[in-house]
Amino acid sequence: MARKKIFAGNWKMYTVRDEALALARGIVDGITDSPGRAVVVFAPAVHLREVAALCAGSAVMAGAQNMYFEKEGAFTGEISPAMVKDAGARWILIGHSERRHVFHETDDDVRKKLRAALSEGLFPMVCVGELLDEREAGRSEDVVRVQTERALEGLSKNEAAAVVIAYEPVWAIGTGKVATPEIAQSMHRYIRSVVAAKFGEAVAAGMPILYGGSVKPDNIAGLFAMEDIDGALVGGASLKAASFLDIARVT
Ligand code: PGA
Repeated sequence: MARKKIFAGNWKMYTVRDEALALARGIVDGITDSPGRAVVVFAPAVHLREVAALCAGSAVMAGAQNMYFEKEGAFTGEISPAMVKDAGARWILIGHSERRHVFHETDDDVRKKLRAALSEGLFPMVCVGELLDEREAGRSEDVVRVQTERALEGLSKNEAAAVVIAYEPVWAIGTGKVATPEIAQSMHRYIRSVVAAKFGEAVAAGMPILYGGSVKPDNIAGLFAMEDIDGALVGGASLKAASFLDIARVT
């Protein structure tokens, strides 16, 4: 079975409205539909409705960078899964390393958000990845295994089959220090084996696993050539339509 290829831009806390709309317009106008490939932009929440409307009918889908797992309530500052969907977004990014490390999100939060996303019918992209000191201590696989297992805990096979994972080594995010294709491939294969052990070979074989961390137009080809790398989650290079399009066109 051919796995879906996915290229996603994470705009983080960049872009005021005009910039966000111009960026979305540049991507929508520059993208050509390609069967088996999805293109996603994770826009800041305040721009979500307009970015989603601009993307409607194009090959680009909008997503939110974060949400809370409760349906509604006294959770000042948070947005709900239903609000994300109501804004027109199809995708939700869950457990990005900045959420984990700057905002202290736990594996438990990630698991609850994933369940909430699935019950709202959003497409979830769950981020996992080790810190530099964890890699240097030889603990990368353990860290990523625990994050992956805890995120997916309690899901049915069908639910797990709807999940996309993004492997983002934290030392590679925003640092210019991209993982080599070999390092990334080895972790992607490992993540697939962790998923297979819990949910079976078919779910693992069908699950898109994206690489993220300093992906640029000049390093995507080497990464994307690897067997278990199914696309990219792009931060810095997704803030210019031209460089994001160059990355998404690697297929
Ligand atoms: P980067 O960010 O491409 O700027 O390294 C990736 C991410 O945080 O998703």
